[in-house]
Amino acid sequence: MQQSSTHDEWERELKAFDDTKLGVKGLVDKGLSKIPRIFNKYEPIKTSLPPPGDEFFQVPVIDLGFENSQKNDGGGGVERKDIIDKIREACEKCGFFQIVNHGIPQEILDEMKEGTRRFHEEPNDVKMGFYSRDRTKKVRFFSNYDLYKSKAANWSDTLALYMAPQPPKPEELPSACREITILYSKYVHKLGLALFELLSEALGLKPKHLEEMECAQELRVLSHYYPACPEPDKTIGTKEHTDCVFLTVLLQDHIGGLQALIQNRWIDVKPVEGALVINIGDLTQLISNDKFKSVKHRVLANNIGPRISIASFFTTDSINPSNRLYGPIKELLSEENPPIYKDTTVKDFSIQFDSRLGMTSTLEYFKL
Ligand code: OGA
Ligand code: NI
Repeated sequence: MQQSSTHDEWERELKAFDDTKLGVKGLVDKGLSKIPRIFNKYEPIKTSLPPPGDEFFQVPVIDLGFENSQKNDGGGGVERKDIIDKIREACEKCGFFQIVNHGIPQEILDEMKEGTRRFHEEPNDVKMGFYSRDRTKKVRFFSNYDLYKSKAANWSDTLALYMAPQPPKPEELPSACREITILYSKYVHKLGLALFELLSEALGLKPKHLEEMECAQELRVLSHYYPACPEPDKTIGTKEHTDCVFLTVLLQDHIGGLQALIQNRWIDVKPVEGALVINIGDLTQLISNDKFKSVKHRVLANNIGPRISIASFFTTDSINPSNRLYGPIKELLSEENPPIYKDTTVKDFSIQFDSRLGMTSTLEYFKL
């Protein structure tokens, strides 16, 4: 009895928050000094410090040498083979790396962060007009994609934009970030294709192998806004999860808070000016038969902010999903390396992922 009335009350609080259509920033704008309990995290934050005496591990920063080249072929004086070796090592060891000289000009990165800030700081009525929980919408603003399912809410808001293969009409995009989102998406899609070439080669496949598997067919741009939090230790910016895609390219600002779980320790993915953070998603771990790792990550809440980040997700088209089956790539298999996973459509994989809220491993479910 007691439990169910508490449950009802909790649901009401979630709904009341959702109904504001203004996300976490809407709460902060009211000047609250304590966070509502729906944001109380339900697990203690593990330490991000390595045990004493252990060498401090950092996510590698890899120079792609694209800046001096029109072709994005690593012609900027950096040997392509070296780049591929470094990427392979990073993907095998920790599934995360940062890239510099990636070919996206600094002004574009800066303006994308600014555009994201402008959107999230638009007047309430503008933002409310975009608020939606309908995942089939190409343009939508929301807070907490799993609000009603998860045990605690994240301290962040998101503008999610589906930018390929069939982008919305420009006028459907919020005016605060319209032009820069279109421009950034072009750059990041081109970079994504270049990264899939490098990843293909790092797996010993022909350069276009992953692109031909349609791993970069869909580009979804998630512009996150993490307002400063009055009680940062009691909540989390984004709870731990893996990404249900092939690859993520993340642009983060200077504030920090992103951590990756590497060898059972939370490692800070430190902001590096001009760099982009790359991480392997669950689907690449599946098709690479565990060679490349999809690693859990999270974002801590902070009492300074807002923190702004833009995650670009590469996967197959989710609006017009295909029946194509994905399993460990045949060319990678041998007697010594038999397939670990069953074949699945990306849609079925995503359904399983959503039912687990990214909390337990979807990959386990697809093991043979
Ligand atoms: C994500 C994510 C990290 C960040 O969008 O999946 O992990 O720094 N974002 O916002
Ligand atoms: Ni993520």
